[in-house]
Amino acid sequence: MKPFKKWFGSKTEGAEIAAQLSSDNVPNHVAVIMDGNGRWAQKRGLPRVAGHHSGMKNVKKITMAANDIGVQVLTMYAFSTENWKRPKEEVEYLMKLPLEFFPKEIEELIANNVQIRMTGWKESLPDYTLKAIQDAIDQTKHNTGLILNFALNYGSRKEMLSGIQQLVRDAKDQKINPEDIDDAMFSKYLLTDPLPDPDLLIRTSGELRISNFMLWQLAYSELYFTELCWPEFTEAHFYEAVKEYQRRARRYGGL
Ligand code: IPE
Ligand code: IPE
Ligand code: MG
Repeated sequence: MKPFKKWFGSKTEGAEIAAQLSSDNVPNHVAVIMDGNGRWAQKRGLPRVAGHHSGMKNVKKITMAANDIGVQVLTMYAFSTENWKRPKEEVEYLMKLPLEFFPKEIEELIANNVQIRMTGWKESLPDYTLKAIQDAIDQTKHNTGLILNFALNYGSRKEMLSGIQQLVRDAKDQKINPEDIDDAMFSKYLLTDPLPDPDLLIRTSGELRISNFMLWQLAYSELYFTELCWPEFTEAHFYEAVKEYQRRARRYGGL
């Protein structure tokens, strides 16, 4: 086991825990269900949207923490296909966050060689939201470091159903043979292609559910739940989750 000790001065909060991690068992892909923004705010007597704002600020911190230990893909669940059911004002606020996030953070993300990606349906996003994220994707597309992937307007059932519809069309057109459909082929029909499946899923806010997130891709991911709400989840907590991941034995059904 190679420790990280040498790499870390006191660079980030959590350096002490990061130094206890093993550098040869870092999860490749970490996915985060960033939940509990509203409750975090309400506990403080603030409007729910204040929680979203605070949650947005946390995204950069955790991105840098992940980057520092060599995580290759960090997927952040930012908005689900079901979140459109929320009050119009809240949805509007959430859709405007990328307009603040990217201009503010893009320079530092580029300096750290981060690539921005998006998993989700672009068509139904407001133009300004799509433009903000598309600009960030374009500006970082030649970077080669950490992939910061936003799951935005994403839902796993819809993703799988569209994949199946396309598979059926391709079979009808004789582009594929139904007998050849296997895990690898199906994965290619999903929005997450070509990203690897998550190794570690973190969900904040104490909810013990998946909420329609990457149902196929999470088949053998390690799950980590914490009572902390997303705005209060720090670098140290992130490294705590990775430390727990490193204690797990992944068997994939074998021995
Ligand atoms: C997560 O926080 C952010 C989004 C779903 C967009 P919530 O807004 O779900 O916060 P809670 O769960 O209501 O506290
Ligand atoms: C999941 O959180 C979606 C995101 C964090 C973007 P929700 O708050 O929407 O999930 P439920 O409604 O508690 O299952
Ligand atoms: Mg929630």
